[in-house]
This record gives sequence, structure tokens and C-alpha cells, in this order.
Amino acid sequence: MARLRLGVMISGRGSNLQALIDACQGLAFPAEIACVISNVRGVYGIERARAAGLPTVVIPHKGYPSREAFEADLTRVLYAHGVDLVCNAGFMRILTPSFFEHWPDRVINIHPSLLPAFPGLKTHERVLAAGCRFTGCTVHFSRPEVDAGPIIVQAAVPVLQSDTPETLAARVLAEEHRIYPMAVRWLAEGRVQLDGERAIVAEPDIAETALINPAG
Ligand code: GAR
Repeated sequence: MARLRLGVMISGRGSNLQALIDACQGLAFPAEIACVISNVRGVYGIERARAAGLPTVVIPHKGYPSREAFEADLTRVLYAHGVDLVCNAGFMRILTPSFFEHWPDRVINIHPSLLPAFPGLKTHERVLAAGCRFTGCTVHFSRPEVDAGPIIVQAAVPVLQSDTPETLAARVLAEEHRIYPMAVRWLAEGRVQLDGERAIVAEPDIAETALINPAG
């Protein structure tokens, strides 16, 4: 069966991109990375993609007169690489409704909180300031609002009293790397359906959805 073709969009170090690269190297994994796009020059994620032999394209948003003009070039590059699903992996640009018109329910994102709590920036600082006992990460269908859209999978992690934003980020990041490939696999297997703005996963495997990491 043809593998789902991913267009991964990044802005930085690309550790979630790396998790997707590693997953796609599995022969049985039902997706492959068709191209990696960065809106920032010189980021480490682009080096990771090149090291894996993947096509990379840098499209600096700063050169464009409008968001729509920038996004038209994103779409052109994604189409040119035969992309089926756009995976935002630390891609730190707001996308406008016109981008989503080209990719209806075909854009997913990962965010380091249990959405809809704590969308936006400085997530871990805000989780600690609020005294939350748990946080986590979410893979979701993207919508034009920041970090919004139907939830595909989440993982929860405990917040320790001794945590700093850095220690908490590291614990959450390990779970991000686990659930992003999981969400992609479910989508590639056709197991995710939308019921309005709720995503339903067919035949979820209890073991793989045991989402509270016992290791803490
Ligand atoms: C990740 O923690 C991801 O969840 C977050 O940016 C980081 C990128 O790291 N994304 C967002 O905050 C989206 N709102 P990475 O470049 O190492 O994958």
C-alpha cells in the first residue's frame, strides 16, 4: 500500500521531526517524509533532514508582503512534493484560513500541553505558575486559531514540585516523541475520523493509549 506522504514544517531544533524520521525508517511504518520546510534559515532541524537524505526547502517568511503570499509558496512546495498530510513540528508561524482551504483536515500539529489548556508560548512556565499536578502534550488537527483543533492523541505527565520549566519540558518532550509518530500512524491507517470537531480513533489499542507515563 502507498505510504502517506508527509510534509513536515519546522522552525527550530527539529526533535519532533527526528522522531518522525526515525519512525518512517521502520519498514512497516505506513508514512514517509516527502519534504521538510523551515521558515527559518540555519536551524538544526534542517541539518537533521539533510542527514536523513530528505528534500529540504527553506522559505523565510520575512521576505513576503503578507502571510497569504508566504503560505501560497508553502502550498506550492508541498504540492510539488506530493504531500498528503502537513505535520507542523515546532513550526512557529500562525497559518491563515486561506492555507487551510488548500489542506482541509490535512494539517496536524503537536503542542506541549494538554490542550485546550495552555495554548501559545511559555507553556511550561504557565503550567508551573498555575500549580498544575499534571501536564502533557497533544497532537491535534490544526485550525486557524493558535493550537486549536480536534484532539487525536494526548499523553499526560506528572508535574513535580521540584520541576523547573526545563525539567518539565524535557519530560513532556519525551512523550511528544512517542505520540507524534503514533498519531501519524493512526491517520495513515485511516483510523481517525472527524465527528464535527471531535476526532474519533477506530480500534484504539489499550496498550498504546495507556497515556500516563508510569516512569513519571
Ligand atoms: C515542541 O515542544 C513542540 O511541541 C512545540 O515546539 C517544540 C518544538 O521542538 N510546539 C509548539 O509550542 C506549538 N505551539 P522541536 O523543534 O525539538 O520539535
